[in-house]
Amino acid sequence: MKTQVAIIGAGPSGLLLGQLLSRQGIDNVILERKSGDYVLSRIRAGVLEQGMVDLLREAGVDARMDEEGLPHDGVELAFDNRRVRVDLAGLTGGKTVMVYGQTEVTRDLMEAREAIGGTTVYEAANVRPHALDTDSPYLTYEKDGETVRLDCDYVAGCDGFHGVSRQSIPADRIKAFEKIYPFGWLGLLADTPPVSDELIYARHERGFALCSMRSPTRSRYYVQVPLDEKVEEWSDERFWEELKRRLPEEVAAKLVTGPSIEKSIAPLRSFVVEPMQYGKLFLVGDAAHIVPPTGAKGLNLAASDVNTLYRLMVKVYHEGRTDLIPNYSRTCLKRIWKAERFSWWMTSLLHKFSDEEDFETRMQQAELDYLASSQAGLKTIAENYVGLPYESLE
Ligand code: APR
Ligand code: PHB
Repeated sequence: MKTQVAIIGAGPSGLLLGQLLSRQGIDNVILERKSGDYVLSRIRAGVLEQGMVDLLREAGVDARMDEEGLPHDGVELAFDNRRVRVDLAGLTGGKTVMVYGQTEVTRDLMEAREAIGGTTVYEAANVRPHALDTDSPYLTYEKDGETVRLDCDYVAGCDGFHGVSRQSIPADRIKAFEKIYPFGWLGLLADTPPVSDELIYARHERGFALCSMRSPTRSRYYVQVPLDEKVEEWSDERFWEELKRRLPEEVAAKLVTGPSIEKSIAPLRSFVVEPMQYGKLFLVGDAAHIVPPTGAKGLNLAASDVNTLYRLMVKVYHEGRTDLIPNYSRTCLKRIWKAERFSWWMTSLLHKFSDEEDFETRMQQAELDYLASSQAGLKTIAENYVGLPYESLE
């Protein structure tokens, strides 16, 4: 088999890149380790920046998002039994975010790919990149007991944090930066109406809590838990009780509880590799970086990498501009580090780090109090939350 761009991974990064390339007449094949149903069963984040919304429009997958997505022009911070609104639109000259689940984005992209007849090989085992530092890179994989070779011009490593792409780069050609946080998020999905029209990020002495949603009838909530916590030890009842204790009283009083559809614990991590390219391989999305979910940046960063690689490939195939190829990593990393900073800062501001009322606790309280009373403070949250501008390749 032969293609122009071989894409490893059919998560949102791989599918969005494939769709954009196909629409520009650039041939691509996606190899995915799991089944399509498995990919759709993963519950992930759900806040899209304007830049990602625009990119989905460019990919022609905006119809259901426009119908079912919820535009949000504000978010709330809660602390000390207070609620403070961050007026996203008012503080950023009209920018907003769209609440639309990653699962739905993935489903729309899968359907769009099927409609245009794009090739996705699901359950492709043992995907391996070869000859990445030559002019003839190729992938091998196993399907139905046979080994298949896929020749290509370029490889897009869209295979997430645990994928094979990053591991294919020689260790002395790449550097990782990492921070592991001493806690995780326990998330619960339920078919109950959201407690508020807007997302609520809550700091509490018992730990962080987040009220989010997927639709007017489906809620997503999170509470900070210790890293060694077991999800089996959290009955729905225990979860709802803990969530209520961490929310301002008037919010807790309105909370509608119900049976969970899904419950899981995710650790929090900040991670970046530099550079994000090696020979003919480009790393995209979670394959190259992870952010803690506090700023809702993971999926959006994946989209901005896709935007950069897509525009680069169009320059290469339509204008012969191979001179721009070395700029990929630098262009992506500029924006990634700023989003890493925001996600780390929001995490530091809102989580419980110690059982003691220590100096850091007082700093968090003072910082929140300051931010809430300052237009400059609220504006810095708003402009990062709606998403910083995409960087240009040249
Ligand atoms: N071979 C083929 N496919 C692989 C391999 C491999 N060796 N390893 C992983 N994959 C697949 C995974 O099964 C998954 O479907 O690659 C895909 C990677 O998808 P994601 O982990 O969702 O990563 P990405 O597409 O970059 O999405 C960005 O943003 O909010 C975050 O974590 C959230 O998934 C989200 C991410
Ligand atoms: C979610 O809805 O799952 C969600 C929303 C905002 C975040 C993280 C997760 O910051």
